[in-house]
Amino acid sequence: MPEVLENFSVKQLNTFGVDATARYYVEINSVNDLRTLFADQRWQNVERMIIGGGSNMLFTRNYEGLLIRMNIKGIVQEVQGDDVLVTAGGGEVWNDLVNYCVERGFAGMENLTLIPGSVGASPIQNIGAYGVELKDVFFSCEAYDIGSGEMRTFTNADCQFDYRDSIFKRELKEKVIITAVTYKLSTVPSLNTSYGAISSELARRGIKSPSIKDISRVVADIRVSKLPDPSTIGNAGSFFKNPIISEEEFRQIQSTFPDTVHYCLSNSTVKLAAGWLIEQCGWKGKKVGETGTWKNQALVLVNHGKATGSEVYALSEAIIQSVKEKFGVVLEREVNMI
Ligand code: EPU
Repeated sequence: MPEVLENFSVKQLNTFGVDATARYYVEINSVNDLRTLFADQRWQNVERMIIGGGSNMLFTRNYEGLLIRMNIKGIVQEVQGDDVLVTAGGGEVWNDLVNYCVERGFAGMENLTLIPGSVGASPIQNIGAYGVELKDVFFSCEAYDIGSGEMRTFTNADCQFDYRDSIFKRELKEKVIITAVTYKLSTVPSLNTSYGAISSELARRGIKSPSIKDISRVVADIRVSKLPDPSTIGNAGSFFKNPIISEEEFRQIQSTFPDTVHYCLSNSTVKLAAGWLIEQCGWKGKKVGETGTWKNQALVLVNHGKATGSEVYALSEAIIQSVKEKFGVVLEREVNMI
């Protein structure tokens, strides 16, 4: 039976570095640990929350339920012609897996270098960066169904991936626990260098035919230059989603703000850069007590040291309010609130 601890501090378990406690806490190292845990009726019925790297959450209060930290490790691969299926335990650190694949020449994840978090969390919000989303390389995942006690397999279509969204954030939230993920990569790279920041950085370095290692390095350097390192400044990456609005709404905004940063999507909708909207409202790099927004990327809220989750939350409310007043757009949080 994995040991269930009481009144456990979560400070080391969330990249925002805010302090709070979990009433009950357990670490899971195997599927068998899950089976044993849930064989005990007590844990079947208690409120629960599953975490991996804790990189996309904000504790605004103590958690009164059972916090389950997934720590199942292991990486294996199977080459099938030009394809390679790589399966990793849900508790592997995402960037360790990226490095493992880049080192071996397995292409597809290089644009997702240095995203914080764990393998098991990667499908939940369909992580994405620099023109690639997890759904582009996701093959399937294994999950423990808490209700039935059975293992289930989810294909790419089953997951209903969307922008920072999947079935695991909706119907299946806290009902299944992802234990392993299989990614379909290729030994014949087809690189995605379409994202402006990547192509201009490659050009600046004089790299004409980049390898996947080159892309991975460039992405890592861009991220380090723009985003705060959670080990020194608490944060959870982008705090809000980039809002998607209709063309008509966009035209109205553009008539007042001609420079609005945007990307036209295929279905007559327009995605706005939330970081730009927030910066226009004067929030970029602003410090509010122990919290604030990051100096190089206004979409990232930070903990300068002693911020509480409620302070960060209050700042996010103020930001939502001012973006709404100026642009008529309501920002939606990307980070999970507790
Ligand atoms: N911008 C500003 N001011 C800012 C921030 C951004 O004007 O303070 C403008 C930039 O100049 C650029 C545009 O907004 O023209 C987009 O900025 P950026 O390339 O930094 O990307 P993003 O849209 O802000 C998204 C993801 C990031 C991902 C990057 C790169 C979301 C919510 N965020 O950010 O993902 O790394 O693209 O692909 O989709 C995350 O989800 O935690 C995350 C970091």
